[in-house]
Amino acid sequence: LPPAVIAPSILSADFARLGEEVRAVVDAGADWIHFDVMDNHYVPNLTIGPMVCAAIRPHVQVPIDVHLMVEPVDALIPEFAKAGANMITFHPDASRHVDRTLALIRDHGCKAGLVFNPAMPLDWMDHVMDKLDMILLMSVNPGFGGQGFLPSALPKLRAARARIDAWTAEGGQPIRLEVDGGVKVDNIAEIRAAGADAFVAGSAIFGKPDYRGVIDAMRQQIAQ
Ligand code: DX5
Ligand code: ZN
Repeated sequence: LPPAVIAPSILSADFARLGEEVRAVVDAGADWIHFDVMDNHYVPNLTIGPMVCAAIRPHVQVPIDVHLMVEPVDALIPEFAKAGANMITFHPDASRHVDRTLALIRDHGCKAGLVFNPAMPLDWMDHVMDKLDMILLMSVNPGFGGQGFLPSALPKLRAARARIDAWTAEGGQPIRLEVDGGVKVDNIAEIRAAGADAFVAGSAIFGKPDYRGVIDAMRQQIAQ
C-alpha cells in the first residue's frame, strides 16, 4: 500500500479560529487538510466555500483536499482552484456529466476524484479510471461529522483496492483510496487492512485537546 495520509476534517474545528486550527493540526502532523463543502441541497447542512479556502490557504503548506457535497458541481471548480485547493472530489450523482467534471478539475491544475456514498456502487468509476487521481469512499452518509463508521465500508474498500491495484498493474496511473466518516484510533487499523491509504478524521482529532496525540496514535495503529 502507498504510505498513509492523515487528513483532518476541519468540519469539527473551531470555525471562529480556523487559521490557528489548521496551523495547529499541521504542526501536529497532518498530511492534508480535508475541507468539507456542504450546500443544504445535496446534503442537509451548510458549511464553507471558496472564500474560506482562500482564507486558510496562507496558513499552511500542506495540500487542501476539497470534498464537494454540492449540486451542481462545475461552477465551483474554477473558484476552488483559484482559492488554492490541491485536490477536488465530488459526488458523481451530483454532476450531469461526470467525465467532463473530472476533466475540468484537472484542467484547473488540481487532482480529481469521485466520492462514493455508502449505497453507491463502485461501477461509477468504470469508464473514468484514466481521469481519477483519487477515490473517496464514504463510511457515513454525508452531511455531518461525528457519525459512526458503517461496517459495509470495509468490503467496499477491499473491492475498490482490488480495482485500483488491477488498474495500476496494467500500467494505469496511481489512484489514492481515501475513506471518510467515523475513522477513529480504535478502527483505523482494520480500515487500513481493507486497503485505504488516506484517512479523513474530523471529530476524532478536533474533538480532542491533543491533536498530536491522536495523529501519532493513528499512525502507530497503521505502522508496518
Ligand atoms: C461528512 C464529512 C466528513 C466529516 C467526517 O459528510 O464528509 O469529512 O467531517 O467527520 P468524522 O470524522 O467526525 O466522522
Ligand atoms: Zn468529507
